[in-house]
Amino acid sequence: MHALRAQYKLTTTLDLMHCCRARTRGKVRRTVLNCDSKVNLLLHKKILVEGSYLPGLSRMAEKNRYATFSNRLKVPLIGLGTWKSEPGEVKKAIKAAIDAGYRHIDGAYSYQNEVEVGEAYKEKMADGTVKREELFVTTKIWGHFYRPERVEHALRLSLKDLQLDYVDLYLMHSPMAVQYKGDKEVMPKGDDGQWLLDDVHYTETWKAMEKLVEKGLAKSIGVSNFNISQLKEVVKIAKVPVVMNQIENHPCLDQRELVDYCKANNIIVTSYSPLGSPDRSWASDKDPNLREHPLVKEIADAKGCTPVQLLIAYHLCQGLVCIPKSVTPERIQQNFLALDVKVTDDEIKKLDTLASNYRACPWDFWIDHVNYPFREQ
Ligand SMILES: NC(=O)c1ccc[n+]([C@@H]2O[C@H](COP(=O)([O-])OP(=O)(O)OC[C@H]3O[C@@H](n4cnc5c(N)ncnc54)[C@H](OP(=O)(O)O)[C@@H]3O)[C@@H](O)[C@H]2O)c1
Repeated sequence: MHALRAQYKLTTTLDLMHCCRARTRGKVRRTVLNCDSKVNLLLHKKILVEGSYLPGLSRMAEKNRYATFSNRLKVPLIGLGTWKSEPGEVKKAIKAAIDAGYRHIDGAYSYQNEVEVGEAYKEKMADGTVKREELFVTTKIWGHFYRPERVEHALRLSLKDLQLDYVDLYLMHSPMAVQYKGDKEVMPKGDDGQWLLDDVHYTETWKAMEKLVEKGLAKSIGVSNFNISQLKEVVKIAKVPVVMNQIENHPCLDQRELVDYCKANNIIVTSYSPLGSPDRSWASDKDPNLREHPLVKEIADAKGCTPVQLLIAYHLCQGLVCIPKSVTPERIQQNFLALDVKVTDDEIKKLDTLASNYRACPWDFWIDHVNYPFREQ
């Protein structure tokens, strides 16, 4: 008991009693989390928000829940996003995430931070926190590499920076190809300032990606930002299953039809920008503020969790993978505890009333692309 008091900084006997109950997990733990008495709500909040009941670090990873791909590979439902996580901060963020229990990290060649991402993996494996096979690593091929002859080169560049022999998941970042003007030219423009778009079809890129699985460089492959018609075209020619579509998803954007199509076709959905991506460079005061929305706050308050945890749990409780980004260790820990939040079907329906066709990432710079995906679901 003394050890417990010290470990969890418990001050009162009531604290201690509830800590013991929370540690027993299972039924009693669910009772604590679903309770509605004032005292228990406060305690619940203490677990989720202050983290004062965190079990030992090595046990946090046991909280992970998984979705299973059609190729039997298991993907942890919560992952850490790394877009906009600058070199100088992304290594610290990933190390904090692995310590907090995350085993899934979402990255991309175009985020231009894979060298530091790789250093974080190396350091956490070297200090014995994780083994390679316990991590689920995603990266993405960018559109300037979509010509089939460049696809393997693209993944090898990422693997070199990540200091890995394989990735668990390689995603086509969007259906839109652009011209190749050098490995680092991810947004190529001509002398006239116009985008250098390319019309190589994503089914051609897909066929080249399948070879990466045969070579053992990627355990599985999928797509991102594809609409239903585009998915159908890939599914039709795929010899290696399309295991994932990573899409923007949150209560302000109705993706129900696309998600249902994916579910019916054994394609796992990952929800990106679950908090509305407030740190992107083109964010505006006119964007809906998901984290501060009165309905989100009201439901979160009633459950004793934070609005952000509710916004993440909204996906996890629908069996969707969710990849919130943060470079702030306390937020990274809090976000992971969204795994403890249960969102009911009724609450999901209530949150869905916020749908306003709002996209944080409309990719409208390439709206004239022949394969622009967002004219339909
Ligand atoms: N496939 C694609 O095309 C695509 C597109 C967009 C995103 N993604 C992936 O999805 C990930 C997540 O999306 P996103 O980066 O657009 O945005 P997001 O996860 O919706 O929001 C990130 C922002 O929320 C803040 N935040 C995180 N946790 C918080 C908390 N507990 N309390 C308050 N604020 C919190 C972060 O701040 P701090 O970092 O300062 O803590 C950051 O400003 C990306 O990083 C990327 O991996 C993929």
